[in-house]
Amino acid sequence: MAGSVIRRVLAVLSLGMIVNASPVQLARRAIASELLERFTLFSQFAALSACDQNINHTGQSLTCDYGTCPLVAADNTTVINAFHSDHGPTGYIALDHTRKLIVLAFRGTVSKSDGNADLDITLAPINEVCTGCRAHHGFWVYWSAVASQATSQLCDATSAYPGYRLSVVGHSLGGGISALAGTVLRTQGFDLDIWTFGGPKPGNMKLAEFITNQQTPNSIYRATHTTDPIPKVPINLPFLDWSQPSPEYWITQETGAQVTTDGVQYVEGINSKEGNAGSDRDLRWPNPEHVWYFGNMSACATPIDAS
Ligand SMILES: *[C@@H]1O[C@H](CO)[C@@H](O)[C@H](O)[C@H]1NC(C)=O
Ligand SMILES: *[C@@H]1O[C@H](CO)[C@@H](O)[C@H](O)[C@H]1NC(C)=O
Ligand SMILES: *[C@@H]1O[C@H](CO)[C@@H](O)[C@H](O)[C@H]1NC(C)=O
Repeated sequence: MAGSVIRRVLAVLSLGMIVNASPVQLARRAIASELLERFTLFSQFAALSACDQNINHTGQSLTCDYGTCPLVAADNTTVINAFHSDHGPTGYIALDHTRKLIVLAFRGTVSKSDGNADLDITLAPINEVCTGCRAHHGFWVYWSAVASQATSQLCDATSAYPGYRLSVVGHSLGGGISALAGTVLRTQGFDLDIWTFGGPKPGNMKLAEFITNQQTPNSIYRATHTTDPIPKVPINLPFLDWSQPSPEYWITQETGAQVTTDGVQYVEGINSKEGNAGSDRDLRWPNPEHVWYFGNMSACATPIDAS
């Protein structure tokens, strides 16, 4: 596997020299192997939020079913708080002592109330976060349900573990909530990275611009996969400007294939059509592309979200 990747990279590089292509263009195609490993790690943090044992066991370590989260399972982790309610998001805050991380994770769609949150697609004004910004109402209500508790626990955790990097992660619905939660927490002074996997659009163009410009020293790692329809929704209707922040990391490898560095394309630009947004319409549901992000995202639960 590694050998063939190296051969392909070398082939691309030598082709580049012959046609004198810009090295910048070449650098944009593939991602570094260190970033691929972090994507894989955070996809596992997102996926295992759907395993019931992580939701019911505050104080325990993170585990997952079917051996689909080997990187996290090998670490020394502790769940600080696992949250679950009928009218709010499911997820957890955990420490990873091995890698010095604090992780706030939101689960994808499992319950009926999760499905209702997905479908609650009015644009809610959130001027207190940024002027002119509007957020996906369902995601906003979900974040609001846990905001004060999560914020105070993250305050405690970041002061108890000052060298630990904070990340907010989620797949699908969880990705939409993560984009909002991470954005708000940054305005409150937290340095953090946002990792989303197949997340729907979190809000309007002003919000996407705000998230995109909020990055240094933070980052948003927004992963999409081939034709996954979920990052494309809600679709734009006249007078609405639903948008995705930049950049995007577009996995171009097929479902089930182990993702390699040259199978992830770095795409810049809000609502760029160079990545998932410009890919073919794919209306299959359940959608296989939606549940494969650096690994199997549905081992513990099959997300049922339709929006
Ligand atoms: C465990 O968590 C799930 C949510 O994922 C919840 O539905 C279930 O009732 C919980 N089980 C127990 C025994 O607390
Ligand atoms: C896990 O890390 C914590 C905090 O550093 C430490 O107290 C604990 O002993 C570690 N556990 C294991 C099994 O290494
Ligand atoms: C993901 O895991 C589920 C549950 O084990 C399994 O049914 C499904 O086939 C897996 N998907 C892939 C693409 O391996």
